[in-house]
Amino acid sequence: METALFVAVSCLLLHLGDQSTIPSYIRVCKRYDPKLNDCIINSIETLRPYLLKGIPELEVPSIEPLTLPEVLVAQGAGIKAVGKNININGPGSFVIKKLNVDLANYQVDISVDLPYLTFNGEYEVSGRLLVLPLKGKGPVRANATDCKGDVVLYAQLVKKADGEHLRFTDIDMKITIGGYHVRLDNLFNGDKFLGEATNAALNENPKELIAYLKPVVEKTVKNIIQKIANKITQHFTLEELLPKN
Ligand SMILES: *[C@@H]1O[C@H](CO)[C@@H](O)[C@H](O)[C@H]1NC(C)=O
Repeated sequence: METALFVAVSCLLLHLGDQSTIPSYIRVCKRYDPKLNDCIINSIETLRPYLLKGIPELEVPSIEPLTLPEVLVAQGAGIKAVGKNININGPGSFVIKKLNVDLANYQVDISVDLPYLTFNGEYEVSGRLLVLPLKGKGPVRANATDCKGDVVLYAQLVKKADGEHLRFTDIDMKITIGGYHVRLDNLFNGDKFLGEATNAALNENPKELIAYLKPVVEKTVKNIIQKIANKITQHFTLEELLPKN
């Protein structure tokens, strides 16, 4: 009986101890710090090297490279385009241009620049993209320059056994892409002439293709940001992340 009680109390204490330990890579900011925005920017900078590699104990994936097992680029209206095992290099070099936390509404506004991104993976496409017929399966390489994102994260307070946690319920996102270059290998069963002509066309109408791809890019980035933000807030209470005193 005594042993059982001892074990139970030890487990409880260990468990509590576990939960109230903020790892050193999370720099805590005081909730009512008049320079809260700067403090959080500094926290994100402290976190950056850990985000690059990923944080297994928080289930946060690596962002350098960022790997997307599957991206549905387009589906329906006579087209299906899928990217597979896409490795993206460059997200880790994000530059925070602006960050504003509105604590009263649990809202965070962030403007981020991504100067240069590269994409490597596999694609499979069949159908018509804009007016361009596409069919093939093979390696894809691409890069994008001067990408900018204006992000608004909306959070709610959620009560859990250990206290109140922030949960990001929605994200607004506007992305602009400065320029890109894309190369699809092995289009039309490796037909050289059609493949070259199609790759040229894909790169000659950047405005149209960017407009076409924007919704899927925004949705993909939105999901990634929401997942990472929630992984962090799910492991720590609001009071742990932003103590009142
Ligand atoms: C993007 O890729 C293309 C094709 O490989 C290359 O010509 C171009 O220089 C790259 N852009 C940058 C900014 O490196």
